[in-house]
Amino acid sequence: MADATTLRHRGSVGQPPAAAAPLDPIPAAADLSPTLSIKWRKLLLFATLCLTPYLLLLYLLDVERRMLKSILINLAMSVGAFFLTIFLIPIVSVYVLRRNMFGYDINKRGSPAGTVKVPESLGLVTGVVYLVVTILFQHSYFTPENTISESFPPENAWLTEYNAALACICFMLFLGFVDDVLDIPWRVKLLLPSIAALPLLMAYAGRTTIVIPKPLRSSLGLKELNLGWVYKLYMGLLAVFCTNSVNILAGVNGLEVGQSVIISCAVLIHNVMQIARNSGEIQHAHAFSIYLMQPLVATSLGLLAFNWYPSSVFVGDTYTYFAGMALAVVGILGHFSETLLLFFLPQIINFIYSIPQLFKIVPCPRHRLPSFDPKTGLLTGSNDMNLVNLFLRWFGRCSEQQLCIRLLLFQVLACGFCFALRYFMAGWYK
Ligand code: UD1
Ligand code: MG
Repeated sequence: MADATTLRHRGSVGQPPAAAAPLDPIPAAADLSPTLSIKWRKLLLFATLCLTPYLLLLYLLDVERRMLKSILINLAMSVGAFFLTIFLIPIVSVYVLRRNMFGYDINKRGSPAGTVKVPESLGLVTGVVYLVVTILFQHSYFTPENTISESFPPENAWLTEYNAALACICFMLFLGFVDDVLDIPWRVKLLLPSIAALPLLMAYAGRTTIVIPKPLRSSLGLKELNLGWVYKLYMGLLAVFCTNSVNILAGVNGLEVGQSVIISCAVLIHNVMQIARNSGEIQHAHAFSIYLMQPLVATSLGLLAFNWYPSSVFVGDTYTYFAGMALAVVGILGHFSETLLLFFLPQIINFIYSIPQLFKIVPCPRHRLPSFDPKTGLLTGSNDMNLVNLFLRWFGRCSEQQLCIRLLLFQVLACGFCFALRYFMAGWYK
């Protein structure tokens, strides 16, 4: 266990390094109660905008009663998970502060808000509540009633995949937390998700074939291609991409959670549309995704209530890795990884634009964030190569909240573009 000499604070540019810090005794929990504010109105507005299209489609969905019942049970459990997350965050905040796990809000440096110790790694609460709910959900889903029906796939195959997915998410949550505590070097950090994805890669016994796009079929002379182990490599790389790409489109209050919620809602809409259009195995693959996405949206919204501008808590790499992995596993097991990658368009652009700095061709500081002017309260884009700075350079200086909204709107547009592309390419592409 860490003693006082090993305690540290995080990401605080311009602060004395942890090793040089005096050996403060650990304060009592009661002395550390942070003032956390819940942004109910903004949360309600954001949740309504994100969830209304999905809930409407779900309401209109005409599907086997048993499947609908499972989705609704999962939805009810997710609502409970939302309130549990809201309840637990203030409690856990006290404990992380006791262990000196806090960060300074870099985009408020120079103002009084920039000197506040903001509790870090609260993604831990989101992740643990999420896992409890998804584990408990099995009790209502994998019942003899469900599994003896011919329309349901064999119990064992689903249980194995479901639990392998949960093992990956749990492993990723753990490694994300390890990263928050130990501050793992960037190159090692990049590989953590490939380790966390192992349970799924090893347990996966599904298809390893891909359907060749129609325009390429005549030239390749193939309709399907079996990729074998290459498919598993692709699964591992997808996990590495989804997790790290969420983690590097970050540093603005509410952005990490906001983008994850929007992508998850887009996934949910895609799932309902596919359930309505298909039957059998495909339907179940998308229902499976819903069972993992509804709790993700709910627990993330619980975190967003505290993390929206001005953030009372930071989410940590615990959250970015956890959410990225949850999205990756549903894409893999739901067999819609191409669609998922289209939802990740802002993250892909951000990643490609970041490559010169990520691979140290151009110097890369610890934080690639804008500069804050305490007099005007506005952010100015720095020369660092990411979407956050690019938006400020293109669309002009703005407040942190405005910047987050602009980036989240871009995320919504990217998801809308994906749906439009799927609509226009249907029948022509695959
Ligand atoms: C990634 C980014 C880094 C960005 C950081 C912000 C790369 C290669 N790395 O690093 O450029 O600065 O995320 O999360 O692109 N923070 C804020 N406001 C926020 C969220 C975080 O000021 O809304 C600061 C806090 O000091 C917090 C710290 O960022 O303690 C967390 O940084 P961390 O997640 O450890 O950074 P990385 O993921 O390594
Ligand atoms: Mg991070």
